[in-house]
Order: sequence, then structure tokens, then C-alpha cells
Amino acid sequence: MSKSYHIITYGCQMNEHDSENLAGMLEAEGYEFVEDPYAADLVIMNTCSVRENADKRFFGVLGQFKKLKKIRPDFILCVCGCMPQQPRVVEEIKKSFAWVDIIFGTQNIAKFPELLHQRVTTGKKQYSIIKDNPVVEEHLEPKRLYKHKALVNITYGCDNFCTYCIVPYTRGREKSRTVKDVRCEIEKLVADGVKEVMLLGQNVDSFKDPGTGERFADLIRSLNKVEGLERIRFMTSHPKDISDDMISCFTSCDKLCHNIHLPVQCGSDRVLKRMNRHYDRAKYMSIIAKLREECPDITISTDIIVGFPGETEEDFEQTLSLVNEVEYDSAFTFIYSPREGTPAARYEDQIPEEIKHERFDRLVDDINRISLEKNLQYQGKTYDVLVEGRSKTDDGAWAGRTNGFKLVNFTAPEEMGKLDGKTVKVEITEAKTFSLYGVIAE
Ligand code: 5AD
Ligand code: SF4
Repeated sequence: MSKSYHIITYGCQMNEHDSENLAGMLEAEGYEFVEDPYAADLVIMNTCSVRENADKRFFGVLGQFKKLKKIRPDFILCVCGCMPQQPRVVEEIKKSFAWVDIIFGTQNIAKFPELLHQRVTTGKKQYSIIKDNPVVEEHLEPKRLYKHKALVNITYGCDNFCTYCIVPYTRGREKSRTVKDVRCEIEKLVADGVKEVMLLGQNVDSFKDPGTGERFADLIRSLNKVEGLERIRFMTSHPKDISDDMISCFTSCDKLCHNIHLPVQCGSDRVLKRMNRHYDRAKYMSIIAKLREECPDITISTDIIVGFPGETEEDFEQTLSLVNEVEYDSAFTFIYSPREGTPAARYEDQIPEEIKHERFDRLVDDINRISLEKNLQYQGKTYDVLVEGRSKTDDGAWAGRTNGFKLVNFTAPEEMGKLDGKTVKVEITEAKTFSLYGVIAE
């Protein structure tokens, strides 16, 4: 009888893609996916440590598996991702959550089948964490979450050491794949029905082919030539590294989607400096101006942290004014959370929780108001939508994305059949803060 697995994924798209790779490995071993983690023979928890509450949630869920392990001793529980890259977490698991069978990290996911094999044949627990693996794993066979769009790593790790961020410690030094390897993977994906790729990296703008020295703009130009590929997206960009050459791709490469995620983190120069971001507000605004000049219909999203140590009311108001000046299509907002081992966690001028929350609420109010204003401009117009599948929120409707990454739920006559993977024209009839509604226009 075949064995079953479930993967619980926290955090960013890097983790999501690692989970796709782990699912591919398990299915190659004959495991079958089950929806219910408590019914599975094997569970992997792919963890995130960017914020403290992710931490707390993780230990909570880990605790819930204790009972299961008692009833079904053969059940295998694995922990991977960013949390075990921190030695204190591994110690904590060993001490207080001894029912975990396999622990591995972000640097050695390709080793998972071997660890699993060892655990099954010897019955012994397997712990394998490496700090920095210089090897880029190629030829993994992910089980993709979506049929028509795929996540593709172009860089791994991060060398930026923003003072609040744990990622450089959990994902290690930055390394780029080669243009050839990325292109080869994408050609295979396209042959398998993929229409849209999302190029992933903590800082895609610092991509540099280790052999040829080609940069991110060269990679985009190369991928733009892949026949059958319809859309290219990427995330995340870093304002200190984005180049004019890259920005020019928005007009020279027809497959490049008119959308960018450009985290600003804060609108105050003083705070940006303490965050070690290597740009100031003026530089950031000049990039926004260039992007809009080159690509007038570009949609822009961002990440913002409120309550960074030492942030004054004036600093925060600078963030509010920047948000209103840029008019983001959407933004991910975060309350600063000290991460052990990062410089900012040691700063003495931490902001009280109630002030952080009060600022957070004010920021979210502005962002949501602007998002809705932006979305209202779509009403009555018709857009190309690449259909991802049935809508998650609206029974019977379809869901897809515009070129600018706007989520569109829409209705279409049933006789049109399955629309997944097709690009259709949709007339927008209603705008909400986080999505658009429409009807098929053809
Ligand atoms: N506290 C709050 N937000 C953080 N981020 C990263 N580290 C922290 C932290 N310690 C946010 C940043 C980053 C996003 C992925 O997570 O905004 O861009
Ligand atoms: Fe973290 Fe900064 Fe690297 Fe982004 S660029 S992953 S925020 S250190």
C-alpha cells in the first residue's frame, strides 16, 4: 500500500518552491499527497523565521503532532526551512519536541530522500543542517502547485544584511544560477504547458551568471525569446541594485509583465540608513519616476515595516507621505519584530507595542484607500486575464491575473468549457480593495 504525505508551508515564495521540490521527491519515492496532515504517514513542516509570530505558530503546530506520534509510532515528522538554520531552534526541538524525526535546512533540501531513507531503514532520527552550501542544486523535479504558472529560482540567499532581517543568516550567501540553466528549465516548463514564470530571488537585481557574468537584464532578454512562454514576472527587486538596463526591458521585452514589487521598507532617510538599505527616499522616488516613464501602466507593490527601533512619529509620517506620493497598487505591511542575531534586535530604542500597532493601523488605512482608488480606475475597461482556475472566493466563477498582477474573479458561460491556462478578455464590472470582478468579454 502506498504511503501518504502532507507538507505545511510557511513564509515566502522561496519556501513555497522548496515545498514543490520536496513534493516532487516524495512522489518519486511513491508517496501520495493527502489534504489532511493528521491522516498522512509523513508530514513536512517547511518553516519561516522572518517574524516572531511565525516562530510561535510553528512551535504550537509542532506540539499538536505529539499525540499522533503516540498513536502511530510509524508516523514521520520532518522540519525544514529557515527555522532550523538557527542553532537555538534545533536545540529547542531536540529538548522539547523530541518526536521530530528529521530536521534539515534551506541549504540541503536535495539531501531529503537520503535522510528519509536513513530514518526508515535505521529507525534513527536524522538531523542535517549546513550553514552555507556553495552548490546550486540543478535537476530537481518539482511537483508544481499550478499547471500554467511556475516558480523558478534565479538566485539563492542574500548578502544584504538589512539590520532587521534574518534571511542572510537562514538562507546563506547569495549565489546565482546560470542563464543557460534557468533558460533550459523554463523551456522544459513551457513544453509541459507553462505559460507564465515567476523568477525568484531575495534580490533579483544582483543576479550575475557565475560563468558569463550576464546580469538580470540579460537573463530577461534571453527568456523573452523562449517560444511559447507568454509572461515573465520576477520578485523581489532591491532599489539599491535595480539598473536602467533592467528598467528598459519593460519596453524592449514584450513578455515581461508590467508589474514590479519594489520594497521601500520606510519613507524616512534616517531610518533607511539604520536599516542598512543603501538608498534614500530621493533615490527610491527617482526609480519610481523612471519606471513610470518607461512603462506608464506599470503596477507597483512594496513591503513596509512600521515600528523599526528609534522610529519617531516624524519618521512614520515620512512613510505615510511616501505611500501617498507613490500610490502603490498594493503593499505588504509588517510590524517590526526583533529577530535574535540581527543588529536591530540589539538596538536599545525599541518601540512600544501599542505605538507600533497604532502606526500599523494608520498605514493600512492609507494603503487600502489607495488600493481601492487604483482598482476603481479599472472599472468599465477590458483586460487580458490569464486564467489560473476556479475562483477560491466566488462559486462558479473563474480567477486569473491581469498582466499587472491584479487578481480578477469573473464569470463566463459554462459552454465555454475549461478556461485554465487560457488568456481571455474580461470586462471589469466592480473593483474591490484586493481584487477585481468582471465578465468575460469574448
Ligand atoms: N520584522 C518585520 N518585518 C520584517 N521583514 C523582514 N524582517 C522583518 C522583521 N524583523 C519584512 C520586510 C521584507 C519582508 C519579506 O518581510 O519588509 O521585505
Ligand atoms: Fe532580508 Fe534585506 Fe536580504 Fe531582503 S534584501 S532578504 S530584507 S536582508
